[in-house]
Amino acid sequence: MNIIWHERSKQFHLYNDFISYVMHVQPDGRLGQLYYGAKIHDKEDMTYLANYRMMPLTAYADIDVLYSADLNLQEYPDGGRDDFGTPAFRIFDEDGSGISGFCYVNHTITEGKKELPGLPATYASVGECMSLEIELFDALSNVAIRLLYSVFRDYPVITRSVTFENRGDKKVVLDRALSLSLDLPAADYEWMQFSGAWARERRPVTKKLKSGITAIESRRGHSSPHQNPFVIIKRPETGEESGEAMGFSFVYSGNFLAQAQVNANDRLRFAMGIHPETFSWQLAAGESFVTPEVVMARSDKGLGALSRTFHDLYNAHLVRGQWKGKERPILLNNWEATFMDFDEEAILKIAGKAAEAGAELFVLDDGWFGARDDDRRGLGDWIANPKKLPGGIKGLAEKVEAMGLKFGLWIEPEMVNPDSDLYRKHPDYALAVPGRKPSLGRWQMVLDYSRKEVVDAIHDMLYAVLKDAPVSYIKWDMNRSITECFSNEKKPEEQGKVYHQYILGMYSLYERLREEFPKILFESCSSGGGRFDAGMLYYAPQAWCSDNTDGQDRLQIQYGSSYGYPISSIGAHVSAIPNQQTGRSVPIEMRANVAMFGAFGYELDLNHISAEEFETVKEQIRFVKEHRALLQYGDFYRLRDPFYHDQAAWMVVSKDKKQAVLAVFTITANVNRIADRLQLSGLDPDRIYQAGESRYYGDELMHVGIAMREECIPGYTTEQDHSSAVLVLESVE
Ligand code: GLA
Repeated sequence: MNIIWHERSKQFHLYNDFISYVMHVQPDGRLGQLYYGAKIHDKEDMTYLANYRMMPLTAYADIDVLYSADLNLQEYPDGGRDDFGTPAFRIFDEDGSGISGFCYVNHTITEGKKELPGLPATYASVGECMSLEIELFDALSNVAIRLLYSVFRDYPVITRSVTFENRGDKKVVLDRALSLSLDLPAADYEWMQFSGAWARERRPVTKKLKSGITAIESRRGHSSPHQNPFVIIKRPETGEESGEAMGFSFVYSGNFLAQAQVNANDRLRFAMGIHPETFSWQLAAGESFVTPEVVMARSDKGLGALSRTFHDLYNAHLVRGQWKGKERPILLNNWEATFMDFDEEAILKIAGKAAEAGAELFVLDDGWFGARDDDRRGLGDWIANPKKLPGGIKGLAEKVEAMGLKFGLWIEPEMVNPDSDLYRKHPDYALAVPGRKPSLGRWQMVLDYSRKEVVDAIHDMLYAVLKDAPVSYIKWDMNRSITECFSNEKKPEEQGKVYHQYILGMYSLYERLREEFPKILFESCSSGGGRFDAGMLYYAPQAWCSDNTDGQDRLQIQYGSSYGYPISSIGAHVSAIPNQQTGRSVPIEMRANVAMFGAFGYELDLNHISAEEFETVKEQIRFVKEHRALLQYGDFYRLRDPFYHDQAAWMVVSKDKKQAVLAVFTITANVNRIADRLQLSGLDPDRIYQAGESRYYGDELMHVGIAMREECIPGYTTEQDHSSAVLVLESVE
């Protein structure tokens, strides 16, 4: 890993063992891109890559040398001048001109990586990472831009963020401030996005990139289940095991834009950042603005390797606190068992059975506070309902702990029902436009987290609940998108800040509670997987992946989630059948076999299953405890895609390749058909593995494959709907 500055040619080269990233200062002082790809030797001068020529309908910043930004790869392009592509930023001066001319001034190269104030970001210590800060300055507006790059030693990863600093004495308006723009010289790429909706999150969608714009966005105030802030740009031939792929992950939980633009010369411009259309930031004299981080990773060995880079990077350099790298507790959550209809006795009965089964944590979901008997009321009143819980949260949590379980609690701190004491007292705490009827979602409004006093008010209520109750886990929910994003106490010119300030306020509350209660394991949630993003992982090491707990649908949802997010972060539970969302009855074996590749748990009343099934549950819990470190932190390989096949398969392999767990699932039966072979991945070709009754060489399993039938995979057949099995592979000496 190194960052080199070639003074004479004015070129930067960032590299590690896997990747190189080359930039240069162009003739007019703007920063240009020269190369991003596999690691290359360092070279003094690569200016031969720049294009200087006369072309029709081209504007030239310097016509004497025929330099036009439109014909060259730009690093952080401006708008309104000689580059007709999408700009990365736009700064409006007081005179209304949105034109700027930022030139290279200087740079600093440092060891390690700095934090981004108030924002989530990957972190690394000296030796693990090097950082480069390039300062650009626009003399007319007196604004400086600092482009921040960090290159990791052990991963094919560069992170990026941008700081704007108003050094003048007049205010400017930042109308667009993306975190990353990356120009690539060719358009022969495909774009992969992860789209969906409630209960069908993160489905891979692949498109060919052609002339024009391809984009995804969220304007919902949360990253949303509709589009995930994670995009892969890959070659058409790239598959799981081979080919070039670049992943871009936005470490942010609010409105975003990710966009690729192919111009007439096949220049591909990828950009990612806060959505410009819901953002306008007044920067007063002396103020600065820092964009969230984008993590860009690269792979020459296909999508599988790209995903594993994100998994390992996020587990080691994004997730923080006591749960970092730790096996996650097996929990039982009462939501699908009781909804809001419970009392202490009912809860203790459910928790007791969970303890008997071997679970480690009981989670009390929605309905414990205020007048929360249904979803029309109570949000905002974070005081336990004495009718349901006479001893409060403390009393219940202590009883649950006495059963040998840890206790966890659901909260939805960003919301308020109009029918709540909080709203009656402080109607101005909700986001709404005075005089206009607010749009409700699930009968609730969104609190104005851009205001510190609102965040403080919620904090104080939660603090009072948590301060002396033994709470070990919090599920932090967010069950509607933001609308009427208007803050009651801000000046007109400040309203363009509210969406982003909301996110900063939400992050600040997370940070405060994390600091006050460092032992608590946070799980984020937004009607299931509506805020499943890298930003959240900085605060909450795991996320409830989807409200759809159907074992068959979960194959797709978890498979899709695995492209960009670690298995340890995927909250996955076994729930009752027929499934509440799909009406489907998937056997308990398959429900667990899917869920155990995640932060595992149950979401049903174990008192209501048969004695035989209860024994199965006990065995599942025993199995997960035995293999949990491998299931959650092993190298994950996608083997068979549930979006395109009648079966699905994936596996995890330990870092030393001595152990693996394979999981196979039949979605719909293939009757009267010979089962095919499944080629495994990630094993040591020279080792011999014991798998069930048989022994195989690693290369045999990877190249020949394992036959997908009972003799090789005990308990499994492709000839029956929802047959599934997990098979442990152990290397034998
Ligand atoms: C959301 C969550 C569920 C549950 C309910 C409670 O839908 O995703 O898991 O917590 O809220 O209201």
